[in-house]
Amino acid sequence: MDPTLRRQWEPDLRAALTGLYGDRGDEVATRLIGSATDAAAQRPDRLRARDAARLADPDWHQSNRRVGYMAYLDRFAGDLRGVANRIPYLTELGVDVVHFLSVMEPRRGENDGGYAVRDYLRPDPRLGTPTDLDAAIDALHDHDISLCLDFVLNHTADDHEWAVAARAGSAYHQGLYRLFADRAEPDRWDEHLPEVFPNLAPGNFTWCDELDRWVWTTFREFQWDLNYENPDVLVEVCEIALSLANRGVDILRLDAIAFSWKRMGTNCQNQPEAHLIAQALRATLAMAAPATILLAEAIVGPRDLVGYLGRHEHERRECELGYHNQLMVQGWSMLATGRADLATRALSQLPDPPGRATWFTYVRCHDDIGWAIDDADAAAVGLSGQAHREFLAAFFRGDFPTSFARGLPFGTNTEVGDERTSGMTTTLAGVADALDRDDPAALDWAIRRIGLLYAIAFGYGGIPIVYMGDELGQTDDTEWRDDPERRADSRWAHRPAFDDDLAGRRHDAESIAGRVWATIGHLVETRRSCRHLDDTDATSRPFDTGHPAVFGWRRRSPRHGELIGVANVGDVPASIAPPINVEPGVRDLLDPTADLVWQLPPLTVRWVAAPGPLPPTPAPPS
Ligand code: GLC
Ligand code: GLC
Repeated sequence: MDPTLRRQWEPDLRAALTGLYGDRGDEVATRLIGSATDAAAQRPDRLRARDAARLADPDWHQSNRRVGYMAYLDRFAGDLRGVANRIPYLTELGVDVVHFLSVMEPRRGENDGGYAVRDYLRPDPRLGTPTDLDAAIDALHDHDISLCLDFVLNHTADDHEWAVAARAGSAYHQGLYRLFADRAEPDRWDEHLPEVFPNLAPGNFTWCDELDRWVWTTFREFQWDLNYENPDVLVEVCEIALSLANRGVDILRLDAIAFSWKRMGTNCQNQPEAHLIAQALRATLAMAAPATILLAEAIVGPRDLVGYLGRHEHERRECELGYHNQLMVQGWSMLATGRADLATRALSQLPDPPGRATWFTYVRCHDDIGWAIDDADAAAVGLSGQAHREFLAAFFRGDFPTSFARGLPFGTNTEVGDERTSGMTTTLAGVADALDRDDPAALDWAIRRIGLLYAIAFGYGGIPIVYMGDELGQTDDTEWRDDPERRADSRWAHRPAFDDDLAGRRHDAESIAGRVWATIGHLVETRRSCRHLDDTDATSRPFDTGHPAVFGWRRRSPRHGELIGVANVGDVPASIAPPINVEPGVRDLLDPTADLVWQLPPLTVRWVAAPGPLPPTPAPPS
């Protein structure tokens, strides 16, 4: 192991482990340093070269050249060998980071879309062999595409070898999970635990006959939560992470990290120890595989979000990337209401990510949308949080007079008044509705809504992610209801197979596919030529544009200057007072032909670069 890296990261590792395990922390540190030393020794040369390049350019993930794409590998490429065939398509779109889902061997039978993992180190045999995986990774790397893979570290599948051994009586393996002889403890935990899948898998515990025990199962009944109070779990998990890094995975997506630590009397999400787990993982990997970074999948309320990027009382190295679910939720909320005030308020409350970290910005992903509207943010603009969440669920389900959306409910829990939403971007933005009604004007609006949300995601800062199919205006899958294994989970509506016919029409400017493709392609190009969107040391903050329908944000980059983003989320034209001086030559980067950059047609976004040096930064709100 590189002694410099060890010197640099060992203190972080020890601090995290002491926080987790007290006096036993040092012993765990010794084990993890041993694992990292072995991994460093086994690291292939081509990855050492990647390490060196990234140590020389530690902000590679913050560059405005980064554009992400996420897809189920089988639905996009067929199998691992098919990945190489799709590279020209990705390159044409301008993508250089891919997140492939459900790559490692999942549970037999139902597997929560690949999130019940049977073997973390072996690809799904239906997709190919380990050699095929290596070849796919090499092909991506040869084309300068970085790979993000899921690391499902909160739970294993119930047919993972640890679970199998636990059922066969191995005390070591039983200790990796959270097992209970009777309902006494589960009942006490349940008093404070919400249900993630209230309809698919009510409750948080599952009885296992063979074990004669209750098993903690936060998600589905076949996803067994790991017990991080047992340091063996952390060591096993870090060793898997090291192996994945040595395969060439560039970004490990820490699935459901917010759920990893349980504390009695709480909802068992976002516990301080969940951060220590991520920090320990961060430090261990950094010693052996510095090219690999971490993405937090913490789809949590705005107040809990930035902690996963290392923003605590004292800044700490944690994940380099995190999903900006608040920006995503606020984007949809603005489209539903035509108002910018809630988004402005909620996003200004978020602390800035620390310098080394940034967001994954997105419009849709493979999951449902949880309407993470904070009560205090809603109250600050005169709304009731609960009523607004219910409104959004109803609006995007299509049950509201002005709604253009045709989404589906997910996880409806009438007891607590919660409902999330499924559906492709097109479905939620009005394409499906316009097509049903055969209404070309409505279709125009719908396509503009897609453009608007993607222009915010591409211009806010962070790595923007295109969700497979969105670039082609693809609509919901039509077959999921026929499959008994998928029927009960409406998230399958927005997990269609890649549509080669649509892709074939992407250059046809008259088709929906062609129009959306051109819109997203334009964002990619503009972003790449706009150094203001380099995220190194840059921050984005919303500002009050003075117009109720215009959402504005200000990006400040000490190196590249200031960029103003403005989005008219309403359906009539809007003018705002210039947030910066309009000198001759100030142009909307997205539409350089627009003369009056502060007059916005409906559903239009502008990125306006301010010339000259930066004025001093105003203090963030306390
Ligand atoms: C994450 C995944 C989701 C999965 C859950 C449980 O939220 O994105 O698809 O159901 O974790 O693993
Ligand atoms: C995770 C996410 C939650 C999502 C769920 C899967 O729990 O935190 O937002 O809804 O997985 O659908």
